[in-house]
Amino acid sequence: MDKIIIEGGRPLHGTIKVSGAKNAALPLMAAAILAPGVHVLHNVPDLRDTRTMLKLLASFGIKWQWREADQALLLDATTIDNVEASYDLVKTMRASVLVLGPLLARMGRARVSLPGGCAIGARPIDFHIQGLARLGVVSTLESGYVEGSVDGRLKGNSIYFDIPSVTGTENLLMAAALAEGVTEIKNAAREPEIGNLIDMLTGMGARIDGRDTDCLVVRGVKKLRPAEATIIPDRIETGTYLIAAAATGGELTVTACNPGHLDALFEKLRTAGVEVTVGRNQISVCRRQPLKSVDIKTLPYPGFPTDLQAQIMALMCLGNGLSVITETIFENRFMHVAELRRMGANIKVDGHSAIVKGVGSLTGAPVMATDLRASASLVIAALAAQGETEISRVYHLDRGYDNLVGKLVGVGAVIRREAEQND
Ligand code: EPZ
Repeated sequence: MDKIIIEGGRPLHGTIKVSGAKNAALPLMAAAILAPGVHVLHNVPDLRDTRTMLKLLASFGIKWQWREADQALLLDATTIDNVEASYDLVKTMRASVLVLGPLLARMGRARVSLPGGCAIGARPIDFHIQGLARLGVVSTLESGYVEGSVDGRLKGNSIYFDIPSVTGTENLLMAAALAEGVTEIKNAAREPEIGNLIDMLTGMGARIDGRDTDCLVVRGVKKLRPAEATIIPDRIETGTYLIAAAATGGELTVTACNPGHLDALFEKLRTAGVEVTVGRNQISVCRRQPLKSVDIKTLPYPGFPTDLQAQIMALMCLGNGLSVITETIFENRFMHVAELRRMGANIKVDGHSAIVKGVGSLTGAPVMATDLRASASLVIAALAAQGETEISRVYHLDRGYDNLVGKLVGVGAVIRREAEQND
């Protein structure tokens, strides 16, 4: 396993170009299952999770290659000769559940290992199973696998989500696209990644109304065709670097991003005294005054994203007062608190809220990454801290950040990556 070593206390200066969104690339790659032929995806990030999804698609018989000329990802889904998603792949990435809907829609059968929980919560998939049952899927749970089948085509129906599940909405959209009749998905999630998926499915010949709303109407078609689509910029990667610049001081511009996806973050940064300047596809931040503590509550989009909660907590450790951070999406997404405390943070967890009392500065220390966004939080804290920080288990970071070390070195961070001694 590798570790990252950071010599903190240096303001970030310069420009970072962000990559395509992990949470758009994964569903759009899974959507290729729906139609035989060669799909072309642009701006796919090179991440541990996208590589896992490629292994999964290949195990179904899908051939893939990166096109040298423009780095596009070509997915040839002409032949599907296996409908089982094995545990050894699924256990490393719970987003593997996204193959369930497309496999059932195209093949009428699927056997997908239950994803199991992860550090941030139990991560059940009951909404996915219930929604698919509404479309006529009969599923059984046995020996850790979900086995689903449907006689003939899926049948359109109305589906209601108790909680607007992101991948639940995506799975049901993909299944409904090939169902017979009309499907209504109510209380659907509205994240921008879902709009990106809808655009790809529409390009494949799907008929979907209600994009960006919480009520999606899908009129099923018999067949879909391969499509060409572009992955939207990663709003969480963008927000991570903006928060890092706010924490270290300095002046940072993030390019190739979509500022329209980050209004909730801009609101909080500006209230905290950070200057945020928005361009067409770039955002600049700088901080010329002490940070003010602000309260944060994570909510489904367009609310403050849970995937930026750990990162903004690192920033609030440097605030001038008290910041109450409430996590409403996942039940255990405060794993970064104990590690931030090791760096001198003053944080008290009370149920779903963390009360962060700003301290003058943080100090570098050996810390351990526990999950993807917690590790990003530790990077931010380390960049702002006085002294050296060593972050172990950085494979978590590799899941969702393409070339993080290289991008930060490019804007003045003193950061390097090494193999752990006891490897
Ligand atoms: C997606 O996860 C993202 N992952 C997560 O990003 C993100 O944190 C999350 O949405 C919320 O925005 C991908 O898109 C690949 P949910 P997902 O279903 O779809 C409960 C990252 O760091 N729930 O919207 O799994 C669930 O437990 C990752 O990039 C059920 O109870 O999240 C949670 O409390 C982390 N039953 C809430 O709903 C279900 O069947 C929202 O989860 C499904 C979800």
